[in-house]
Amino acid sequence: MKVSLKLLFLPPVVAAAIVFAAVVHSPTIKAAPGPDHASRAGLMPIGKPVKIKVPLGLPPVPIPPDNPPTEETIALGRRLYYDPGLSVDGTISCATCHAPNLGFGDGKALSNGVDGKLGTRSAPTVVNAAYNTLQFWDGRSASLEKQAEGPMANPVEMGHTLEGVVTFAQSDRAYRELFLKAWGTEQITIDLVTKSIASFERTVVIGNSPFDRFYYGGDKKALSLAAQRGLKLFLNPKKGNCSVCHVIGKKYALFTDNKFHNIGVGADTSGNFADVGLYGQSKNTADMGAFKTPTLRNIAETAPYMHDGSQATLKDVVDHYVGGGTSNPHLDKEIHALDFLTFDERSDLKAFLESLTGTLPANVDPPADLSSVKMQTAEKQ
Ligand code: HEC
Ligand code: HEC
Repeated sequence: MKVSLKLLFLPPVVAAAIVFAAVVHSPTIKAAPGPDHASRAGLMPIGKPVKIKVPLGLPPVPIPPDNPPTEETIALGRRLYYDPGLSVDGTISCATCHAPNLGFGDGKALSNGVDGKLGTRSAPTVVNAAYNTLQFWDGRSASLEKQAEGPMANPVEMGHTLEGVVTFAQSDRAYRELFLKAWGTEQITIDLVTKSIASFERTVVIGNSPFDRFYYGGDKKALSLAAQRGLKLFLNPKKGNCSVCHVIGKKYALFTDNKFHNIGVGADTSGNFADVGLYGQSKNTADMGAFKTPTLRNIAETAPYMHDGSQATLKDVVDHYVGGGTSNPHLDKEIHALDFLTFDERSDLKAFLESLTGTLPANVDPPADLSSVKMQTAEKQ
C-alpha cells in the first residue's frame, strides 16, 4: 500500500480515514503466491530470521538489505560451501581452499583447483570476510554474494560454469527441498546459490581471542607479557606502526583499513611486480603492486603469508617489515625499515600476532549429512 505524501498535510482524522479506506481495499491487490513467484527477481528468504551473534572484539555483521540471513539460508549455504559437487569434476569445494582446520585458508602458498591446476594467488581466510568492504586481494568484488561466483567459474579453481552449478543443484532432490524451505521456490538460480553461501560465510566470525579479552574485555591476565609489549609496538607509530593499516579501534578490531597498499612484496630488484595487484583493476600507476590489507585474526593458523604466499612464517613476516620490504617506486609511505627494533621487540610483535587466535563459532564445520547429498548428484529430475 502506498500512502501519498499529500496525506501528511491533511488534518489527522481525514488522513486516517483515507488510510483506513486504502487498507480495506488493499487485499484485492495482494500478490498471489504462485508458480511465477520464483521467476521474479529479488526473491527474499522465507525462513526464520537469524541475528548473527558476534564475539568480543567485533562489530555487528553488516547485512545487505536484500539478503537477511535465516536459519534455512545459512544451513543451505553451509552445505553448498562444503559440497564438491559445485565443481566441474566433483572434487573441489569452497572448503578445499578455505578449510576450517586451516583457519579457513588452505595452508598453501598458491591454491590447487580442479586437476591440481595452480592459481596465482594465496587463498585468504574466509574468517571475518563479512566485514570486508571489498573482496579479493585486489578488491575486484564488492560483496560476498558476487565473490562466490568467481571460484565456481574460475577454470583453475572449481572449473565449472554458473549454469553448470545451477543444473547440479537443480537435479538434486535434497537441494530442491532446501531451496524451497529457504527461498520458497524449487527454481534454483545462481543468485540464490551465492546468497545462501554468503549468508553462511557471514556466520564465520571470529573474535574473543586473548587480545580481545585483554583489550576489550578488561581481563588483564588474558595476554602474556610478551604479547602485551608486542601490542604496544604494534600500535606505536614510532615503533611497529602496524595499526595504521591493520586497524585496532576503540570498540572493535578488524585489523584492516579495507584499503590497498604496496608493502614491497613480490617486486623484483628493478621494481617489476609478478602480480600488479590493484593496478590490474584501476589501471592507475599509483596502485601498482598494491594489495588489500588482510585481517590478522587467527593469523597463526594461516601460514604461508602474503598474496603470493611468499612468507613462510610469522617470523619471516616480521623480518619483512624490519627490512622495510623490497624498495620500489610505489612503496606505501607508511612502510620503512624497522631495523631499530631489538630482537626481543621483534619476538614480542610475533607473540602479539599469535595472541589473535579465537575459537570457531558453532556450526561452521561440514554438515553431518553432506555425504548423503554428494551421493545424490547423479539423480535426475
Ligand atoms: C582452488 C582454491 C579456491 C577455491 C575452490 C575457492 N577459493 Fe576462495 N579464494 C581463493 C583464492 C586464491 C582467493 C584470492 C583470489 C584473489 O584475490 O584474486 C580467494 C578469495 C576468496 C574470498 C575473498 C576473501 C578476501 O579477504 O578478499 C572469499 C570470501 C572466498 N574466496 C570464498 C570462497 C567461496 C565461497 C568459495 C566456493 C564457492 C571459494 N572461495 C572457493 C581460492 C579458492
Ligand atoms: C601500509 C600498510 C601496512 C602496514 C603499516 C603494515 N601492514 Fe601488514 N599488511 C599490509 C598489506 C597490504 C598486506 C598484504 C600485502 C601483500 O600480500 O602483498 C599485509 C600483510 C601482513 C601479514 C600477512 C597476512 C596474511 O594473511 O598473509 C601480516 C602477518 C602483517 N601484515 C603484519 C603486520 C605487522 C606486524 C605490521 C607492523 C610491523 C604491519 N603488518 C604493518 C598492510 C600493512
